[in-house]
Amino acid sequence: MPASPQAPGAVRIQPSIAAGNLLRLEDEVRALEKGGADGIHFDCMDGHFVPLLTIGVPFLEQMRACTRLHLDVHIMVTNPDAVFEQYLAAGADTLTFHPEVALHAHRLCTAIRARGKRAGLALNPGTSWRFVESLLPFVDQITIMAVNPGFSRQAHIPEMAEKVRELASHAKAKNLVFDIQVDGGVNEGNAALLAQHGATVLVAGGAVLGKPDYGAAIRALRAERS
Ligand code: DX5
Ligand code: ZN
Repeated sequence: MPASPQAPGAVRIQPSIAAGNLLRLEDEVRALEKGGADGIHFDCMDGHFVPLLTIGVPFLEQMRACTRLHLDVHIMVTNPDAVFEQYLAAGADTLTFHPEVALHAHRLCTAIRARGKRAGLALNPGTSWRFVESLLPFVDQITIMAVNPGFSRQAHIPEMAEKVRELASHAKAKNLVFDIQVDGGVNEGNAALLAQHGATVLVAGGAVLGKPDYGAAIRALRAERS
């Protein structure tokens, strides 16, 4: 289990494995372990919620068998209610789905936690955090998408930092404890600001797996939280 979001310290960095070399996934995992990644962000796409298909359940099962790193699974699928169990069974530690398409988001969060796993909700750039305000006591992580989901290496939407700040301030005022993750276009130029605004976990695709030295790239993103 990762450190409490309330603990002081540096923001956690979870590289997005789908941004790596998909023909050499085990090598990518070893390089991320060596580079000090705090977990692996595992993006699954269904060709409906987003246009592409990427790695899915069979890859996740094999990745679970090959690493002890925290597996942070982000399912960009239109039918999370129907498929979430498969990802839990395959070894997800945190399972994050999109409430924009979930039929029964509260039931899903509760079911994920009942299995001893962490439940996450990912919000598209056009979705206000207020949309999930009533679910905040039931989640372990809120992911603020800073790109429209679907592709790595898109331009970061800087206005999402304000959404992070508002959510972090609401959580503090209400004594709610969950991670605030930012996913999409995170880089050396915006990581410190996102951490200052209240992000506790940063996903990085191109900013780590697009660099020659993963360890140096991870260290460059690991800003101190305020
Ligand atoms: C977007 C994915 C992200 C993305 C991250 O659809 O959820 O995890 O691939 O990649 P970068 O950091 O390159 O935007
Ligand atoms: Zn993602």
